[in-house]
Amino acid sequence: MADDDILTEEQSMVRGMVRDFCESEAAPRAAETDAGRFPRELAGRMAELGLLGMTVPASEGGGGMDEVSLALAMEEISAVCPSLSVVFAVQNSLVCAPLHHYGNGEQKRYILRPLISGEKLGCFGLSEPSAGSDAAALRTAATRTGGGWRINGAKRFISNSKEADLCIIFALTDRELGHKGISAFIADTGASGFEVGRLEEKLGLGGSSACDLRFENLEVGGECLLGEEGQGFEIAMTILDAGRIEVAAQAVGFSRTCLDASVAYARERESFGRPIAGHQPIKWKVADIATDIDAARLLYLQAARLKDAGRPFSAEAAMAKVFASDMAQRATSEAVQIHGGNGYMRDYPVERFFRAAKATQLYEGTNEILRQLIAKHLLS
Ligand code: CAA
Repeated sequence: MADDDILTEEQSMVRGMVRDFCESEAAPRAAETDAGRFPRELAGRMAELGLLGMTVPASEGGGGMDEVSLALAMEEISAVCPSLSVVFAVQNSLVCAPLHHYGNGEQKRYILRPLISGEKLGCFGLSEPSAGSDAAALRTAATRTGGGWRINGAKRFISNSKEADLCIIFALTDRELGHKGISAFIADTGASGFEVGRLEEKLGLGGSSACDLRFENLEVGGECLLGEEGQGFEIAMTILDAGRIEVAAQAVGFSRTCLDASVAYARERESFGRPIAGHQPIKWKVADIATDIDAARLLYLQAARLKDAGRPFSAEAAMAKVFASDMAQRATSEAVQIHGGNGYMRDYPVERFFRAAKATQLYEGTNEILRQLIAKHLLS
């Protein structure tokens, strides 16, 4: 990898540690995990290694690491086990991060810490049946009850929700105010009125759950409000900005494994009396995939570095996510092509990464929405 010399010692160390964990513990179970087994014990191991709440300051029980380290860890995990990378990303970027940035002292002590220690898992309840890309159109509503809130509504395709102990729910607290009337709540998934729907069957990422959620008179206390009343949309948008850096790193991880597998296969597989690595079409495919991967990695590192420097990074994160996820479609598809018929078979790893890669164009903002967002930064 060309960026070794531009990483700090700590960033290289974190990457090395995650790589060791992935090779020794995640890789042996990766195929089984992606086939549909939720990796609960690996989530526990990630917590023991300090990989949950990585960017939360040490004073709040987290790893105190920077965004670059988080993204590098994401690339490593994704390169081995796509489903585990979703579990890692949701817990770090979509659950621990909002609690760190917007939680009060009590929420950090009693809710964030168990998420970092791996005792509890969380999920991020934003999307709804009729509010995906148009996140501000959500209909779930929270009404005041004496000291707390009563939530009614539904959420769609919420990652990790089957196993999650808690959910950050975005709900309307004032219909008249549009997106300024959305608030965020922390709810216990075991509470009465909180129903988790069937496990969706997906194209890839089988080991991470996606379920619909239903809230029927779900009661939460006043202390469950995250941030200020009406701050929910801002919370969702800022958290998703950073999450997109991780999705870009994920797409790079998927593609890297496909490149490595393709290179190994091309050296071994023979046709017309020599290894296919000697044929020009294969050489060009491999060269294009490698170039694409390096470009995508530089984009996610750029966005992560801007975030670490406290500078605006919203457009750069969106660019990294769009480029890397589109790139991963080409890279993983070409890897299957290099493998020929074998690439289409479950015995070879590339088809698993090919199926996983599609999700990166869809979640945490479809690429169409993100292109709109990038254009808005340029044109307004
Ligand atoms: N940071 C802070 N504030 C932001 C913001 C950002 N990145 N983006 C927008 N805002 C603020 C704006 O400043 C504006 O505030 P004011 O009214 O005070 O000026 C307000 O939000 C509304 O902004 P827009 O007019 O741009 O909002 P919009 O409704 O036209 O569009 C959108 C917003 C960008 C399309 C947004 O709806 C969006 O990001 N959609 C995609 C949703 C998404 O990513 N969903 C992912 C679901 S979670 C998931 O996928 C997880 C998983 O499975 C693993």
